[in-house]
Amino acid sequence: MRHKLELLRDEAAAAFAAARSEADLQQVKGRYLGPRGLVTGLLKHLRDLPAEELPLVGRLANEVKLFLEGQVIAQRQRLKDERLSARMSQQLDLTLPGRRPWLGHQHPIAIVQQEIESIFIGLGFEIVEGPEVELDYYNFEALNMPADHPARDMQDTFYLPGGFVLRTHTSAVQVRVMEKRQPPVRIIAPGRVYRRDHDLTHTPMFHQVEGLLVDRGIRFSHLKGTLEAFAHRMFGPDTPVRFRPSFFPYTEPSAEVDIGCVMCGGRGCRVCSHSGWLEILGAGMVDPAVYEFVNYDSEEFTGFAFGMGIERIAMLRFGINDLRLFFENDLRFLRQF
Ligand code: PHE
Repeated sequence: MRHKLELLRDEAAAAFAAARSEADLQQVKGRYLGPRGLVTGLLKHLRDLPAEELPLVGRLANEVKLFLEGQVIAQRQRLKDERLSARMSQQLDLTLPGRRPWLGHQHPIAIVQQEIESIFIGLGFEIVEGPEVELDYYNFEALNMPADHPARDMQDTFYLPGGFVLRTHTSAVQVRVMEKRQPPVRIIAPGRVYRRDHDLTHTPMFHQVEGLLVDRGIRFSHLKGTLEAFAHRMFGPDTPVRFRPSFFPYTEPSAEVDIGCVMCGGRGCRVCSHSGWLEILGAGMVDPAVYEFVNYDSEEFTGFAFGMGIERIAMLRFGINDLRLFFENDLRFLRQF
């Protein structure tokens, strides 16, 4: 009996050590230690032993059982360690090719907006923002465009209930700023604007940057100098700039500003309709009628305002011929910036 126990012990221990997996080990454990296992079976015969042998063999049997149970635990740990170090050596395989992280970048409109912002910050302007859902009052009324004013037709407007519109231009921010502050005011206001237009050169949503400067003794020459400085930083120091008379209800006099065509260098091409010039923004001296709405003394203060389309600047800057490309999110386009 003792001999049998020792043989079985060694056999079982060797079988446990040979197990290749957890499932393997479970199966081998069942074969020896399970309810119908070989060791269990042998232990059942203990009661057939003569009384004088029982204590000794009984103790041995107990030791064998405990030993084998300990072996199962030890082998289970061995299998776990093996799995772990197999995984580790896989992860530390320095011969594998690296995985390059996929970094995105800013949208071309955001890039150009920041360029515009940093040029005007350099000129002493401060950045402010206004709401995109705007009161009719700020978008039109206080800009000297009463409800029946024909100038409202210049902009196809999304009207909302309750006296609201989707702002058609960032000029609304002019009024909001002047309402809150006394001169000197020197701000730019970038953001989204909305018009009911959709074709090659118009999208229902686009971006503008508004500019407003009000102080004592501000003249048209300040406007010219500021916008020339901007155009030269944006498009290069040799870029020609010209002012054409125009009309806006909230500026007087008003102007549209052109730069020499960046495509043909002013010789004339399809992009500039053979004129050699490209319009980049609208501007003018703030109309005294606007000051009435914000309680500025138009005898004491004068100022200028301008508004430019960011898409337009970006198209000229990067030589893009279709506005809609900015909003189609085609990675082949976006990756080029
Ligand atoms: N708001 C005008 C536009 O959207 C641009 C402009 C701004 C003109 C400020 C004059 C002064 O076209």
